Amino acid sequence: MSKRKHPAVGIDLGTTFSVISRLDDLGRPQTLINAEGDKITPSVVFFEGENVVVGKEAMKAVATDADQVAECAKRDLGHRFYHRLLGGRQYPPEALQAWVLNKLRFDAEKQIGSIQKCVVTVPAYFDEVRRKATQDAGYIAGVEVMDIINEPTAAAVAFGFQQGYMNPANKDQEKKKILVYDLGGGTFDVTVMEIGGPDFNALATDGDVQLGGRDWDQRLVDYVAEEFIRKFSCDPREDPNAAGRLWRECEDAKRTLSARQKAGIACDYKGHAVRVEISRQTFHEITQDLLDRTAFTTRQTLQAAGLTWADIDRVLLVGGSSRMPAVVEMLRQLSGKEPDQSVSPDEAVAHGAALHAGILLAYHEGVSPSFRIRNVNSHSLGVVATDIKTKRPRNAILIPRNTPLPVVARRVFKTHKAGQKSILVQIVEGESPSPDDCSQLGKCTVRNLPPELAAQTPIEVRFKYEEDGRLTVMVSVEGTKKQLKHEITRENSLTQDQLDSWRKYISGLDPAERPEPAHLSKEVRTAPPTKAAKETLDYSPEVDLDKPGSKTPDPGGSSASGIKRRWN
Ligand SMILES: Nc1ncnc2c1ncn2[C@@H]1O[C@H](COP(=O)(O)OP(=O)(O)OP(=O)(O)O)[C@@H](O)[C@H]1O
Ligand SMILES: [Mg+2]
Repeated sequence: MSKRKHPAVGIDLGTTFSVISRLDDLGRPQTLINAEGDKITPSVVFFEGENVVVGKEAMKAVATDADQVAECAKRDLGHRFYHRLLGGRQYPPEALQAWVLNKLRFDAEKQIGSIQKCVVTVPAYFDEVRRKATQDAGYIAGVEVMDIINEPTAAAVAFGFQQGYMNPANKDQEKKKILVYDLGGGTFDVTVMEIGGPDFNALATDGDVQLGGRDWDQRLVDYVAEEFIRKFSCDPREDPNAAGRLWRECEDAKRTLSARQKAGIACDYKGHAVRVEISRQTFHEITQDLLDRTAFTTRQTLQAAGLTWADIDRVLLVGGSSRMPAVVEMLRQLSGKEPDQSVSPDEAVAHGAALHAGILLAYHEGVSPSFRIRNVNSHSLGVVATDIKTKRPRNAILIPRNTPLPVVARRVFKTHKAGQKSILVQIVEGESPSPDDCSQLGKCTVRNLPPELAAQTPIEVRFKYEEDGRLTVMVSVEGTKKQLKHEITRENSLTQDQLDSWRKYISGLDPAERPEPAHLSKEVRTAPPTKAAKETLDYSPEVDLDKPGSKTPDPGGSSASGIKRRWN
């Protein structure tokens, strides 16, 4: 393979640990080690005065300077700010993720030279807002995110590579159906994929963006804290540093319990100390409901794909938390098959991302791809419309979940009344018929409609949804030249000026020249999840909900695996 101008780099930006990989000269994925000599880097950021420390050393600071340490910022993506102040300041989660990306890139560049382009992974269950925030983190870190790819899909690609599926000699292999169970530190994803030679097609996906190894840690923390309270009548969770020390002990004990039948957890606070012994059995009991949630979602996904366990050829385990023996046992029971642990649970996702980056770079160089990925959307997308019969607002879905991407969907609505001046289209993501229970992605308004416009004039809303989960909305009003191509303005995402300012701040200016970003405020504002607002119903399009929207695969949008170059 010839040497490329840009290395093919894939990054698994995890909730608890991140990994960076590249393709070597033979096109094989290889994990790059960080400055500490490790393959995985804790996604933890420590603000030590002017100094920003990322990784292992930042994780240690949880025990001593917890209020200056940010962990699990990935869970806050989609919110305006990280959920608490750090050293008295507010930071957007995109910026915290960018610091992690910056560290990965900086350390990797010492080994492979300049990195300008990469592929970053996201949980399959991430919604549009979180996907955009992930791309923004890449921009802030000064890299061009050529594409974002779903983590279970990336793991399946790495698995396919390992199994020799991309080898042209094997291209006529029989199609295999694989269920990827990905339990990481902060998120859970399950995806059913069909792999046939060079084609990787997702059939269904589901998950939980607030369920992962951290929740298992928390159960241990609570177990020990309750024991501590019983003995000494004080709660170590009250103090951030004591809580930080206890969490580190518990995470360590959890790993021990994957290898041994029991573990000891030390806890000290206010001059008291205790060592709590916990057995694997007790650990299973206090976390059983978490495991059950993953089993429930797994069953649902299989059903959504229209399959039974008999149709599944492999159950592929990914994510560090899939090392827990209870996970393996549960899947064995559920599927009646031996779960496949042949890929590295820590590295597979980054390896798949690097393979995808290789395909994109080759495509840009005019080489036809050696494999193709087809994804499905993880959440339904619709608009808020007034139901003709009930006159109540409804989520009128244009693209149901688990639709293969890319896709263009159209749905025709009607104006509300004669002489209507404007139309407001609110775009929502979610399954509920009630817009209040969906997240609002954005809104767009078609203004200055002709004064004589009749009531019930058809309005066509078109959604174009790309494979990387990005959405374009087009609205046209019949009989008028009024057309709108929509740039979504998201409530909880940074403006271009803010992104530029963070980019300057984080990726490489001399500290002496760093301007204080204008939007860094000390005032505490929490950003609740956005809900679709009701205020504009008068101008919502009306829809006959008995008529479903029509959807067609997008013929023009399907380039090699959904290439999206946002920053050009
Ligand atoms: N041997 C083990 N036993 C139990 N849990 C483990 C073991 N090794 C790692 N873990 C857990 O796996 C999690 C990290 O896994 P991984 O790196 O796949 O997640 P992540 O990529 O950070 O998160 P996500 O994919 O959810 O964003 C942590 O919660 C860690 O405690
Ligand atoms: Mg992960």
